[in-house]
Amino acid sequence: MMVQKTSGIYQLTQIPAIYAAFQRMLGGERARQELVATHIRPAPGARVLDFGCGSGAILPYLGPVEYVGIDLNADHIAQAKAVFGDRGTFYAGDFGSLPVEQHGTFDLVVCLGVLHHLDDARVRELVMMARRYLAADGRFVAVDPVFEPGQAFVARWLAKLDSGKCVRTAPQYAGLVKGGFGNSTTTVRHDLLSLPYSHCITSANATTGGPRRPNVLDS
Ligand SMILES: C[S@@+](CC[C@H](N)C(=O)[O-])C[C@H]1O[C@@H](n2cnc3c(N)ncnc32)[C@H](O)[C@@H]1O
Repeated sequence: MMVQKTSGIYQLTQIPAIYAAFQRMLGGERARQELVATHIRPAPGARVLDFGCGSGAILPYLGPVEYVGIDLNADHIAQAKAVFGDRGTFYAGDFGSLPVEQHGTFDLVVCLGVLHHLDDARVRELVMMARRYLAADGRFVAVDPVFEPGQAFVARWLAKLDSGKCVRTAPQYAGLVKGGFGNSTTTVRHDLLSLPYSHCITSANATTGGPRRPNVLDS
């Protein structure tokens, strides 16, 4: 289930232009640069699948990659197609509805700001989907707000205010991702935005998690 606050100011963040302005104000541009350089690290030509891609804001930072994005919000996808339609393929719909037969496997599955909008059952589903789509040496990278012992009061408060109702601790994100991949690592960063905010970067390798589930892509 998607678990999200939808009233008042939260509704505004569903509007692509307002979401983008909000992100810019907080230093989202620098954060994306840093996330790509340090944590996502796409090789040139990598095939990247973005679950919950929003309006494709990460795409300009990824360099020369083959990009596929999917998002529930049709307005975000319309915006993504208008701006980046020549650089990627975008689908409106649930992450589980991607037309698998049209795409091969991916080197990276990224999931930026999405897991904290999903309850545990849906995160497990997403992680299994990611695993299915990843090449044998592929990587999964998720980024979400986090509750972390000792974090700044403002960072904790902002995490509580988030429209996603499933902000977790780093071990909780790690456990959910490890459930699908057999491995996971987390890094907590308090320095990505221009205000006190704590992000958890959760990643996993497709290699070490045992055999991949059968996939139409394998036949
Ligand atoms: C906080 S936004 C992040 C958007 C984008 N990844 C970014 O970094 O700007 C979370 C996104 O997840 C999308 N989302 C939530 N549940 C989803 C689902 N089940 N399938 C696809 N997208 C989903 C929402 O529509 C929203 O655009």
